[in-house]
Amino acid sequence: MVYDSSTLSNITEVQTTHIDLNFNVDFKRKIIDASVILKLVSQVNNVNKVILDTSHLNIKHVLFSGVKLKYMIAPKDERFGSALIIDLNKPLPINTEFSLEVAYSTSKEGTAVQWLEPSQTAGKKHPYLFTQCQAIHARSLLPCQDTPAFKLSYSAKVQVPQPLRALMSAIEAGEEENTEKGINIYKFEQKVKIPSYLIALAVGNLVGKKIGPRSTVWTEPEYLDDAAWEFEDTEKFISTGENLLTPYEWKKYDLLVLPPSFPYGGMENPCLTFVTPTLLSGDKSLVDVVAHEISHSWMGNLVTTLNWEHFWLNEGWTVFIERKILGRLHGEKASEFNAIMGFKLLEEDIDHFKDNPSFTVLVPKLQGIDPDDCFSTVPYEKGFNFLYHIQKVIGGPEYFEPYMKAYVQEFAGKSITTDDWKNYLYSYVEKHYGIEKKALLDTIKWEDWLHSPGMPPVMNKFDQTFAKACKDLAQRWDDAQKTEKYDEFSSIDIANFNPIQKMVFLDHLCEYPVFNHSAIEALNKIYGFTAVLNSEIKFRWQKFCLRSEYEPIFPYVVKFLIAQGRMKYVRPLYRLLNQAKNGSELAKKTFIENKSLYHPIAAAMIEKDLELNI
Ligand code: BES
Ligand code: ZN
Repeated sequence: MVYDSSTLSNITEVQTTHIDLNFNVDFKRKIIDASVILKLVSQVNNVNKVILDTSHLNIKHVLFSGVKLKYMIAPKDERFGSALIIDLNKPLPINTEFSLEVAYSTSKEGTAVQWLEPSQTAGKKHPYLFTQCQAIHARSLLPCQDTPAFKLSYSAKVQVPQPLRALMSAIEAGEEENTEKGINIYKFEQKVKIPSYLIALAVGNLVGKKIGPRSTVWTEPEYLDDAAWEFEDTEKFISTGENLLTPYEWKKYDLLVLPPSFPYGGMENPCLTFVTPTLLSGDKSLVDVVAHEISHSWMGNLVTTLNWEHFWLNEGWTVFIERKILGRLHGEKASEFNAIMGFKLLEEDIDHFKDNPSFTVLVPKLQGIDPDDCFSTVPYEKGFNFLYHIQKVIGGPEYFEPYMKAYVQEFAGKSITTDDWKNYLYSYVEKHYGIEKKALLDTIKWEDWLHSPGMPPVMNKFDQTFAKACKDLAQRWDDAQKTEKYDEFSSIDIANFNPIQKMVFLDHLCEYPVFNHSAIEALNKIYGFTAVLNSEIKFRWQKFCLRSEYEPIFPYVVKFLIAQGRMKYVRPLYRLLNQAKNGSELAKKTFIENKSLYHPIAAAMIEKDLELNI
């Protein structure tokens, strides 16, 4: 029985197997005029209606074999949108295949699409649009059964004004130019079955450069060379993933570097990962995000969570594989150091949700809850720590890695729950390693890991090689701030730190409740953090300064807040600025004046964070 409380669709009665999209992108009206043909199969007898998820869509008509059907649109639910209830006119027996065609248009209020003015792009000449459908925004791009519970293939035809190009999370299947009409038409085909949240579209002045045998990086021309350089190790990540798991199934792995308002670090849209331009650090220090999105090619995109309660199966597993890949390529110590940094993020988020501890459970209850509201590093880092712990319990990578591969083979193409995952783990371990190993699994505190709030019940021990120097230096600064004497420090302290060490050093500084302003000034004078370009270091430095209510940082924070819209950065910085002495008005004013810069998903979250009711 499939069950997903985040969809309004009657998914137990009928399921989509294929979607055929026809998009006509109108930048003047900021609307996509569209039609979609859904191929459906009834799952039970006497199916007389199809309920689709929609959000802010204008439905024009619904056809069944060319004949118009009656439909109604239910009142809107703030979290889940409006159910489109289509009356099939006659009951269908089980296993009946049929098609529905819905003509509709999107609207400006939709949350999946961000429309950018030319001024919001690098080139400043052409408009741009991109979508972000995870978790439940596909319903504002197309009427569909918006659930990860089952999968579908899709094809699409997209008409855009010249000279723009369309890209989708699929394989290109032809393009036509019509100079007379001033339009370009692009066709796409995604033959591997995917959940609805992986449908993605971007339109803009896009150019590509090949960076590997199956990879092209796409961007506006202004970012192209930098992006091609930054991501040149992409093929190594993919082939390492193949060695760890199974052959890469999606044919192509392209990257699209989006404009700065892209709300995430990366999004694993199949065949075409979307990434934020804040990864272009010039030193390849942030490419772990690409290793992460590549890992989703197996974890999430092949083996998919059945609903958003088991989201950790997507993200926890992906972080685990990402760190396996980094371990193979950069050494285990570097990979474990990454885990230490992740653990800090987990501590912070669990603290952030202290008044809402149910969100810190690995498998949360989401009935009536918008999955975006519960987003945190818990599924990522608690999930990672859980898998790391299990690996240790059963005897290390020697035992865990063959299981990992078998897990993907077992569930590729399926949507699963935590129980499915756990049952398979038990049966694999018993079958391949015997009952003694199975008895080891019984020592795991399953209930605490899966269903209790707060920090993990077991602390993993990670290699401290890279971490020690960061912690020691932070401790020395804390000691020094007490006497306000800083002569012992010089730029040599961090000269040999890699970028991740600088991040972890700053994370440690953030652990101290407040810092003396004289220490902040000395830190900046000696290490030059305020001027740093690397977005992860800049973010941590600004966070550290705001926590100590260091006002001279305010203008730099505002500058960073309006230069990009990645939620990982803008949400904490807005919150901290809002809480800092003399910062609240500035935070609210900055947001209100610049709201249009942000993606609708990000804007909605910041609004909640700042308790604005606009
Ligand atoms: N799939 C996620 C992004 C996402 C999650 C979008 C939930 C919408 C809802 C993506 O793979 C991701 O995890 N991105 C991270 C980067 C990663 C290295 C942890 C991000 O955006 O920061
Ligand atoms: Zn992810």
